[in-house]
Amino acid sequence: MKLFRKKKEVMQADRPVPKHIAIVMDGNGRWATNRGLPRTAGHAAGSEVFRRIATYCRDIGVSYLTVYAFSTENWKRSEEEVTAIMGLLKKYLFEALEKMENDRIRLEFFGDLTRLAPELQELAAKTREISARYEGFQANICLNYGGRDEIVRAARAYAEKCVAGEAVPDALDEAAFSSMLYSGDIPDPDLIIRPSGELRTSNFLLWQSAYSEYYFTDVLWPDYTPEELERAIAAFNKRSRRFGGVK
Ligand code: FPP
Repeated sequence: MKLFRKKKEVMQADRPVPKHIAIVMDGNGRWATNRGLPRTAGHAAGSEVFRRIATYCRDIGVSYLTVYAFSTENWKRSEEEVTAIMGLLKKYLFEALEKMENDRIRLEFFGDLTRLAPELQELAAKTREISARYEGFQANICLNYGGRDEIVRAARAYAEKCVAGEAVPDALDEAAFSSMLYSGDIPDPDLIIRPSGELRTSNFLLWQSAYSEYYFTDVLWPDYTPEELERAIAAFNKRSRRFGGVK
């Protein structure tokens, strides 16, 4: 803890931080297998790392952290693994409720939560509602989330508005479409980090990532540290972002 506090003071003073960071928390299964442990042990370790990284992001002045916790495709995993991930999410949300005043993290959820167990849906709704009062740092947890699914849902919602006479096709522009996504009005991610050596997007924030900077590392998510995050931020700060223009 001391180390991070020290780091925070040093680092905050000498470099800008991205406003919105998104992370694919990948490599939990391999981390556990490498240690002869069940895959679920990797998710448990990954869940602790999420806590640590979220707190660190809050402390260094990041405004939004979006993490991929469970995709629309992750239902294909064994029942044991799915149950373990859902259990970890429940545990995290229970603890978040208890420590809310201390953590001061606004929690949001991206994805179709209706497929989750009612208890988990209720916990998500409660943490979301109670934490809405905190300003400064927001963590978005993607649950039963898929980028294509998100886009299809937004397109369907707009089509339904048109059918109901509440909207017209010509009025749909990028800003209007963006506002219909789970991410609503929050800015697109500046930096998307994928640990574990995989070099793909895996259906994560497909619309929002149009001009995001990607950062890949071989480190597995349960081994991810604030120092690793600092490396990603340093690399990000060296990039020249042109958004299609010329600098
Ligand atoms: C990807 O690693 C990770 C997941 C599909 C689950 C992530 C879930 C958690 C970290 C736990 C709960 C989350 C929160 C926010 C409390 P993988 O299993 O695909 O790893 P592998 O590629 O090595 O198999």
